[in-house]
Amino acid sequence: ILALEHPRPMKRPVPEVHPKPGARVPRLWRQEVERILITDDQIARRIRIMAREIVRDFAGREMVVVSLLNGTVMFLGDLIRNLSLPLRLDFIGVSSYGAGTESGELVFTKELRLDMRGRDVLLVDDILDTGKTLYRVLGKLRALKPRRIKTCVLLNKAARRIEAVEADYVGFEIPDIVVVGYGLDFAERYRNLPFVGMLHPHVYDQASQQVKPVRPGKAGRQGGD
Ligand code: PRP
Repeated sequence: ILALEHPRPMKRPVPEVHPKPGARVPRLWRQEVERILITDDQIARRIRIMAREIVRDFAGREMVVVSLLNGTVMFLGDLIRNLSLPLRLDFIGVSSYGAGTESGELVFTKELRLDMRGRDVLLVDDILDTGKTLYRVLGKLRALKPRRIKTCVLLNKAARRIEAVEADYVGFEIPDIVVVGYGLDFAERYRNLPFVGMLHPHVYDQASQQVKPVRPGKAGRQGGD
């Protein structure tokens, strides 16, 4: 009876990660990265679980994966290699330009190429922070009349939310701390780290003291601004 009432398997709870001593930061990065928040193994395992949920939900129809540039570079690659479904891929370029730790105005740097009308769309981003990006992009996508849109993010910083937007698939819930790596930047650096890590405060303190403001990247913005 229960199975009839709940025909779809329940989603597993999203893992919450907290900054605690764990894996050693590689020597090369030790000056800048204080600790590893999520290891490459943890990321890989979690992505396989997320991919199974997505495959289950999108089975039977060709999907269009729409990925937001630039932060999704690693997550997208690892996610789609685990999506054993026919799919097409497109990108939206969107970035927030602002000085210091304040969120800036959103600028679209690349538009979609594929037709979204009637399609089953999976929108992928690396981090859901204030929600401004996803909210804006969802509005833009909905206007193109897809059949449905599901959203997928690797990291969710719920404490920072401003717009009422949630993702359908979330890799990890993280606290309001500065994170970099695995695609996420601080002033365009650290995207190539294979793990998600926390920066030493001196790195972002230094950056905010520079005369010419660097764009920290929203993933790298310090919380509580
Ligand atoms: C980052 C991140 C998300 C967005 C999330 O992008 O990649 O797209 O911020 O923040 P929000 O929920 O507060 O809108 P950013 O604009 O830094 O560009 P990037 O992807 O090139 O790093």
